[in-house]
Amino acid sequence: QTLDMELEAIEKGGFEHFMLKEIFEQPKSIADCMRGRLKADSGHLVLGGIREYAHKLDKAERIIIVACGTSWHAGLVAEYIFEDWCRIPVEVEYASEFRYRNPIINEGDIVIAISQSGETADTLAAIELAKSKGAIIFGVCNVVGSSIARLTHEGAYTHAGPEIGVASTKAFTAQLTVLGMMALKLGLRRGTLKESRFHELLVELESIPTKVEKALKTDSLIKKISEKFKDSKNFLYLGRGYNFPVALEGALKLKEISYIHAEGYPAAEMKHGPIALIDEEMPVVFIATQDSSYEKIVSNIQEVKARKGKVIAIVTEGDEIIPQMADYTIEVPATTEELMPLVSVIPLQLLSYHIAVMRDCNVDQPRNLAKSVTVE
Ligand code: G6P
Repeated sequence: QTLDMELEAIEKGGFEHFMLKEIFEQPKSIADCMRGRLKADSGHLVLGGIREYAHKLDKAERIIIVACGTSWHAGLVAEYIFEDWCRIPVEVEYASEFRYRNPIINEGDIVIAISQSGETADTLAAIELAKSKGAIIFGVCNVVGSSIARLTHEGAYTHAGPEIGVASTKAFTAQLTVLGMMALKLGLRRGTLKESRFHELLVELESIPTKVEKALKTDSLIKKISEKFKDSKNFLYLGRGYNFPVALEGALKLKEISYIHAEGYPAAEMKHGPIALIDEEMPVVFIATQDSSYEKIVSNIQEVKARKGKVIAIVTEGDEIIPQMADYTIEVPATTEELMPLVSVIPLQLLSYHIAVMRDCNVDQPRNLAKSVTVE
C-alpha cells in the first residue's frame, strides 16, 4: 500500500495530480509530437503514416471525422483547418451517432478517427462501418498498438505519452498538432496552400511549445480567479471561429472534474438562447483572442456586461480593449488564428483544475467517468 502510494507520487513528478502534471507537460508533449516530423528552417514536414495513401488524400473529395468527447472537439478545430488550408469539405461526427444512422459514405471518402485511447467502442464501430463501405481510414491515436490504431489503414500517433487523468489535456493538444501537420502537408500537395504561407505556418507551429509554456505562466492568476468562482452553479463559455471548439472544450473540462454545469456556445448564438441566463450570478468565459472575429466578440462581451454577467476573458497579450470591459483577463501569447486553440485552451484546463481542487473533487478520477469507454 505505502509502496503503491510512493510509486504514484514518483509518477506524478512532484505534482499533486496527474492532470496538473499533464497540463504542464504540454510544451514537451507538443514538441514530442513534432519531433522528427517538422523542421521549419529546412521546410521539412514528413508524416510517416500518410505515405502509402497520400495520393488518395490528394484526390479526396470529402473528409469525415469521427470521434467522441474531447477528441471530437479536436475534430471540430480540424474541420476549420482542413477546409481553410486544403479546401476539402469536412464533416465532424459523434461516432455514436454516425454508426447508427445509415450514413452516406462513398468509395474514396477519407475518414479520420481521433482517439486518445484507441479503444473507444463507438469510434471503433464507426470505423468498421466506414471501412465496410470502402472509405479510407486514418487514425489519430495516442496509445500505440491500440485497437483503433490497428484497424485503420494509415495514421499518425500523437506521441503525447501516457495520459492518466480522466479529463484529456495533453492528448487534445497533441491531436491538434497532428491534425495541423496533416492539413499543412495536404494543403501544400493539393496546391490550396501557398508555399509562402506553408512556410510561415511551419514556423508558427514550431513556436507553439514556447507559447504554451508562456500560457502556463497564467497559473497563479487563474488560481485567484478560481477562488472567486468556485461556488458558481453555472458557467457559460463563448468563442467564435477557431475558438468556438475551445469554448466547448473548456465547458467540458469544467463539467467533468468540478461537476459545475457549464455550456459552451458559439458566441454569436448567445442571442438565440443563453443570453436569457445571464445575470450577476453568471460567469461567462470568453475566448476572445485577436483574430478575424475579434470585433464581433467584443460586442458579445458588451452584451454580457450590459446584463451584469461576470466576464472572464482569455485575450491576446497586449490587448487594451477587452481588459477595460472584462472583470478578469488572462493573457496568452499571439499566434495565427488557426493555431490559437493550442494556446487558448491552456488557461481553461487550469481553470477547471483549480476549481475542482477547491471543491475537493477527485480530479484524476471524477465520479461516473472512465478514461476509456470500451462499452456502449
Ligand atoms: C472518455 C474520456 C474523455 C475522452 C473520450 C474519448 O469520455 O473520459 O477524456 O475524450 O472518452 O476518448 P478517446 O480515447 O476515444 O479519445
